[in-house]
Amino acid sequence: MGWTPNSWRKHPIVQVPEYTDQNKLKAVETQMAGLPPLVFAGEVIALRQRLGDVALGKAFLLQGGDCAESFDDFSANRIRDTFRLFLQMAVVLTFGASMPVIKVGRIAGQFAKPRSSPTEVIDGVELPSYRGDMVNGNAFTEADRVPDPDRLLKGYHQSSATLNLLRAFATGGLADLEKVHGWTLDFIAGSEQASRYEQLASRIDDCLNFMRACGISSSTSRALRETEFFTSHEALLLNYEEAFTRKDTLTGEGGHFSTSAHMLWIGDRTRQIDGAHVEFMRGIRNPIGMKCGPSMDKDDLLRLIETLNPENIPGKLTLISRMGADKVGEHLPPLLEAVKQSGYHVVWCCDPMHGNTVKASSGYKTRRVQDVLQEVIGFFKAHDRVGTHPGGIHFEMTGSDVTECVGGDVQAVSEESLSDRYHTFCDPRLNANQSLELAFLIADLLQKRREGGNILAKAS
Ligand code: PEP
Ligand code: CO
Repeated sequence: MGWTPNSWRKHPIVQVPEYTDQNKLKAVETQMAGLPPLVFAGEVIALRQRLGDVALGKAFLLQGGDCAESFDDFSANRIRDTFRLFLQMAVVLTFGASMPVIKVGRIAGQFAKPRSSPTEVIDGVELPSYRGDMVNGNAFTEADRVPDPDRLLKGYHQSSATLNLLRAFATGGLADLEKVHGWTLDFIAGSEQASRYEQLASRIDDCLNFMRACGISSSTSRALRETEFFTSHEALLLNYEEAFTRKDTLTGEGGHFSTSAHMLWIGDRTRQIDGAHVEFMRGIRNPIGMKCGPSMDKDDLLRLIETLNPENIPGKLTLISRMGADKVGEHLPPLLEAVKQSGYHVVWCCDPMHGNTVKASSGYKTRRVQDVLQEVIGFFKAHDRVGTHPGGIHFEMTGSDVTECVGGDVQAVSEESLSDRYHTFCDPRLNANQSLELAFLIADLLQKRREGGNILAKAS
């Protein structure tokens, strides 16, 4: 099919930095190609199989994390808190869905951002836009904004350290289901969401006590003691992705795998069918995602699916709908219908964040929790109408106590308090309380579906 790890270089490309020192860039690319992979093809195949279950309606995908990871705001505690929030959300969802929840972080590689404008102007000064820590710096100075190839290496090393800790958390005891009460973050203790969670954790305790009496406990069962956690990021910097694309010699499947993360996705701004990003992504064996915003046309979508997953492997392709709360009802059903008619297996996942970004009067970029929840409801309604599986959720969240999104039914963040703890390097994230609220809402929607209820009627 004429694909090689570098065939993308012959295609038109958008949203990439312009490096001034091409020799330095070349040297970094060569160095990266010799570095150890971050993930192994066997793990990637495992995720593809799990997502295959999602595509067939037998599991649910929980994908989330920072909009953009940062070099400065990097610590073990931050990774731990995000991981604990993930575990909490997964427990809530598993209970509602009564099906496995596949956990995929936007983490250990989520450092590069597409931008709406290549430059930013402040007080008459024009500089290149910030494109994520793996490209340039956030400070509005010429020195910071010049793209630096060494940042690719720094991103790799931070991803490697992050992944090392995530693996330890997943298998070293933190994720043990018998610790379900210990996952609540201190700053949300006492809130309504935390007490809802405590009630659920107590029910899990009862189940675990019963199972222990039957001889099954976390000391005898790996499934209770450990969890699976996968990584993902937007595959924006194709020279980085090319360097970590390796030929599989160990699993027997063969072909090329991206080893920079288990799953990669194509952003809404880089999904041109003849473009470099689609060209690169069509050749790797990893499960991949593609964002579908309101401008996605159904014929283009079918062509993209055919290009990205010609063998129609369930779990290979996840379509991440990010329409906006006011558009999802109109734009999503025709796409669901077209894909259903075509017989293609896809995972449908809802990103209720990127279509709902607004500017607060104070100038902060924010999202209203109400809009986020409404888009999720709209997503479920659309699937209800067409008879397809609402397979997952993709969102920007953090285990840190931030004030970036407005609203939430407890400890609500007001527009005035956005400045208190607005720490994001890019888009506004849900904090722990808001994330749990979202998880409970989805758990309710999944439970209604399971019980044969009609979401159109019940969740108006
Ligand atoms: C993102 O996921 O951070 C992002 C930029 O999304 P989109 O491509 O959907 O705009
Ligand atoms: Co974002």
